[in-house]
Amino acid sequence: MDLGLNNKHALVLGASQGLGLAVAKALLAEGASVTLSGRSSDRLEAARQSLPEDQQVRCHLALADLSGPDAARTISEAARSNGNVDILVNNTGGPPPGLPSGVDVDIVSAQFDAMVRPVLSLTLDFVASMRAQKWDRIITIASSGVVQPIPHLPISNALRSTLVGFMKTLASEVAKDGVTVNMLLPGRIATSRTRSLDAAQAERSGRPLEDISAESAATIPAGRYGTVEEFAAVAAFLAGVPASYVTGSMLRVDGGAIRSI
Ligand SMILES: NC(=O)c1ccc[n+]([C@@H]2O[C@H](COP(=O)([O-])OP(=O)(O)OC[C@H]3O[C@@H](n4cnc5c(N)ncnc54)[C@H](OP(=O)(O)O)[C@@H]3O)[C@@H](O)[C@H]2O)c1
Repeated sequence: MDLGLNNKHALVLGASQGLGLAVAKALLAEGASVTLSGRSSDRLEAARQSLPEDQQVRCHLALADLSGPDAARTISEAARSNGNVDILVNNTGGPPPGLPSGVDVDIVSAQFDAMVRPVLSLTLDFVASMRAQKWDRIITIASSGVVQPIPHLPISNALRSTLVGFMKTLASEVAKDGVTVNMLLPGRIATSRTRSLDAAQAERSGRPLEDISAESAATIPAGRYGTVEEFAAVAAFLAGVPASYVTGSMLRVDGGAIRSI
C-alpha cells in the first residue's frame, strides 16, 4: 500500500529512541522527511546516523527539553525551518511509577509541564497552518492506561487522559479541514521505558527482572511484548493518505492487553 508520504514532512517528538524513533524510521522509509526532537544532541545524532544514507538527508534535528519554558517555540521554529509540518507526532518521556496514595503533587505539576503543556502548545501552534493546508495529521502517543488504568502509573494514567480528552475534542473541530487527530495506545512495547518499569517492579518485589517481564508478557493475550516496528507500522498508516477517514480514534497497539471492548 502506498501511504502517499513522499514530500510530506513530519515532526516527531521524543524521537531519539524507542517508540518515537521507530515512528520516525517508518515515516522516513515511506519517503517522508522528518524532524526528530529530543534533549540530547548526541542521542539525536546517533539516531540519525543509524539511518540508511539516503534517509539521513531527509532527517533533521530539533534539540529541546520539552519541560523547558521555551521548548515549544524552539522546536516549532526548528521544524518550520525544514519545511511545512504536515504530520505532528506528539510523544514525551513517561512519569515515575508509584502508588496513587503516595503521589507528590509537585511531581504531577512538573510532569504536566513536560508531558502535557508542550504537547498542547505545539499542537495549537501547528493546527492553524494545518487547517489552511487542508491535509494534515496529528498523532498523539498515549497509553493503554487511558482505557484500563495501569497500577503503579497513576500520573501517567491521569496526564495522558488529559491529552486524550483534548485531542478528541480537537478532532471534531478540524475534521472538515482535512486534519485528522488520533491517539495511539501502546500496551507493552519493548523499549528502555518498559525495561525500566519492569526493573522498578523487580526492585519493589525483590524478584528477578526476567520473572517480572515473563509474568507481564503472560498477561498479554499475544503472549509477548510488542516490537517498536509493530507499533510504528500503525503510526505510519495513521499518518498516510489511506487513513484520511480515521479521526478522533484511540487505536490500541497492545496485543489484546486491554480486556474491555
Ligand atoms: N513502550 C511502551 O510500551 C509504552 C506503553 C505506554 C506508554 N508509553 C509511553 O510512550 C512514550 C514513549 O515510550 P518509549 O517506550 O519510547 O519511551 P523511551 O524509550 O523512554 O523514550 C522516550 C523519548 O522521549 C524523549 N524525552 C524524554 N523526556 C524528554 C524531555 N523532557 N524533553 C524532550 N524529550 C524527552 C527521550 O529522548 P531524550 O532522553 O534523548 O531526550 C526519548 O526519545 C513514553 O511517554 C512512555 O511512557 C510507552
